[in-house]
Amino acid sequence: MENPITIALPKGRILKEALPLFAKVGIEPLESPSESRKLILETNAPNIKLLIIRPTDVPTYVQYGAADIGVSGKDSLMEHSGGGLYEPVDLGISKCRIMVAAQKGAVLPQGRRLKVATKYVKTAKEYFALKGQQVEIIKLYGSMELAPLVGLADLIVDLVDTGGTLKANNLESRELIAQISARLIVNKASMKIKHKQLTEMINKIASITEATRENIHEVQH
Ligand code: PRP
Repeated sequence: MENPITIALPKGRILKEALPLFAKVGIEPLESPSESRKLILETNAPNIKLLIIRPTDVPTYVQYGAADIGVSGKDSLMEHSGGGLYEPVDLGISKCRIMVAAQKGAVLPQGRRLKVATKYVKTAKEYFALKGQQVEIIKLYGSMELAPLVGLADLIVDLVDTGGTLKANNLESRELIAQISARLIVNKASMKIKHKQLTEMINKIASITEATRENIHEVQH
C-alpha cells in the first residue's frame, strides 16, 4: 500500500491551470472542484486526495505538513513567513507581475512619507526598505486600485496581468517588484518520509511543464 499523499491547491485562477497539469500526470479529482462544496476531494488514485483552499493558505498547510505538496503563486510565497518548504518547480502557469502603480500622470508628493495601499504588506515593506524609501503601508484585502482614486494612498502594490484593471481605473504601472508564476511546493518532512512517491510526482510534473527545472532550494525569507 502506498503512502497517502495530500495535495493543496488554491481556489481560483491558479486551480484552472493547475488541474490540467495534474491530469497529465494521471491525478484527477472524482468531483469538479468548481462545482463541489467539498474541501477535501478524492481522486482517481485511492491514496491521493486534494485540499481546495484559499491561495494565501496553501503555504501554511504545506509548511505544517497538513498537505505534503501544493501549488502556490509566488506572490503568496513572498508573503509567507513560515519556512519549512521546498520550492522545486516553477510551473510556468498563472504568470503575472507584482507592480507599484499610481494614478496616471500623478506627481507624487514630496516632503512626506508616501502612502502605499496593498494586501502584499511583507513584499511592499521589503521592497521599499531595500530602496531606502520610508513609506506608510496601508493594509487592504482587495480592490487596491480604488485607493489612489479616493485619496487613501499615493501608490498601490498589486498584481498586474493584462493591465486592464489599471487602465480601467486610470492608473499606470510605475515599478516592477517581481515576476510571478505558480510554483510547486513540498513539505520538508514529507520529502524525507515519502521521498520516492513525491520525487516521482515532482519529476513527472516538472517534465510536462515548460518551466526550467531548478534545483530544490528552500524558500527564501
Ligand atoms: C488581480 C489583481 C488585479 C487584477 C489584475 O485581482 O489584484 O486587480 O487581477 O489583472 P489585470 O491586469 O489582467 O487586469 P483578482 O481578479 O485576482 O482578484 P483579487 O482582487 O481578489 O486579488
